[in-house]
Amino acid sequence: MIPFLELKRQHEFLKKEIDNAINKVIKNSHFILGEEKKLFEQEFAEYCGKKYGIGINSGTDALILALHSLNIKRKEEIIVPVNTAIPTIMAIRAIGSIPRLIDVNENYLIDSKKIEPVINKKTKVIMPVHLYGKVCDMDKIIEIAKKHNLKVIEDCCQAHGAEYKGKKVPIGEIGCFSFYPSKNLGALGDGGMIITNNERIKEKLILLSNYGQEDKYNARIFGINSRLDELQAAILRIKLKYLEEFNKKRRENAKKYNELLSEVKGVIIPDYEEGHVYHLYVIRHKKRYELINYLKEKEILTQIHYPIPIHLQEAFSYLKYRKGDFPNAEKFSNEILSLPMFPELTDKELRKVCEEINNFNNIVA
Ligand SMILES: Cc1ncc(COP(=O)(O)O)c(C=O)c1O
Repeated sequence: MIPFLELKRQHEFLKKEIDNAINKVIKNSHFILGEEKKLFEQEFAEYCGKKYGIGINSGTDALILALHSLNIKRKEEIIVPVNTAIPTIMAIRAIGSIPRLIDVNENYLIDSKKIEPVINKKTKVIMPVHLYGKVCDMDKIIEIAKKHNLKVIEDCCQAHGAEYKGKKVPIGEIGCFSFYPSKNLGALGDGGMIITNNERIKEKLILLSNYGQEDKYNARIFGINSRLDELQAAILRIKLKYLEEFNKKRRENAKKYNELLSEVKGVIIPDYEEGHVYHLYVIRHKKRYELINYLKEKEILTQIHYPIPIHLQEAFSYLKYRKGDFPNAEKFSNEILSLPMFPELTDKELRKVCEEINNFNNIVA
């Protein structure tokens, strides 16, 4: 069987280092707000080329707290792409603000040309999502934000180490990351981080993530409990050392997929790009479900990211969007397919996936 993702392979390779890191934390038995979190915050911020990192419980919480840090209020509007993971939009809903959805371009990312027409007095933030590991059109997005006095919060949850014009994300002032196990940098549980250069926002986020407390039993502002714990921080410090190597392998896999699939009729492949970290390798095919079933019969597992665009999800029906509102996202959601993609995927497995896609095409042609 060729899995869509098999984390066991990575953890077998890292087992000794991870065991040592866990044992060290247990020996200290300081599980919350200790040295490992502090060090990982510094190391990951430095990796991103920014000053500050604030370790959080999850990517969703990172987005929620980033919105709080900017004082975004109920009914204020956040511009966000319609093709994203559900938690991006749930974070906006959690603080009572309104997601203003935007259709995506051929790269499945927010179409920056469609942003300005929806800006109004209530608009406060643009939230681009670097989906699948590819960075959005950030020059244009930052230019629009400056022109209209808006803030930018980047959802970097699928884009650890992704680059835009030689700079790692986040490109703007605030970026939110998830360390959900399947991410390019994944914990052995939930985790997240907010990265920023802004000291004032950093100080506020430290309070927001820890009951609003300035020091123990002294709460200054609103806050919740959302702190990256010591065990996850210690494990993530180990994995961070390998992130560049893992991303390089993902890029090599994407390049090979592109080479092997470029001539296969009916398959639309993604662009190859050095700054892309290929969290997901997403193709399009008009007979998507038939292809999925064919590959399954051949013991090749695939996934769809995402089968239902945000505006057609029941949880967001209150936004009153309709079928037809976002033609690209709707069309793509019927055709996209994510192929197996992880650093440890072997050359043999990758070739087998491509061979079977080719065979499928010969059968249905
Ligand atoms: C684009 C995107 N945004 C937000 C999230 C939320 O992250 P988490 O699962 O850590 O809450 C995820 C991951 O699930 C994601 O892929």
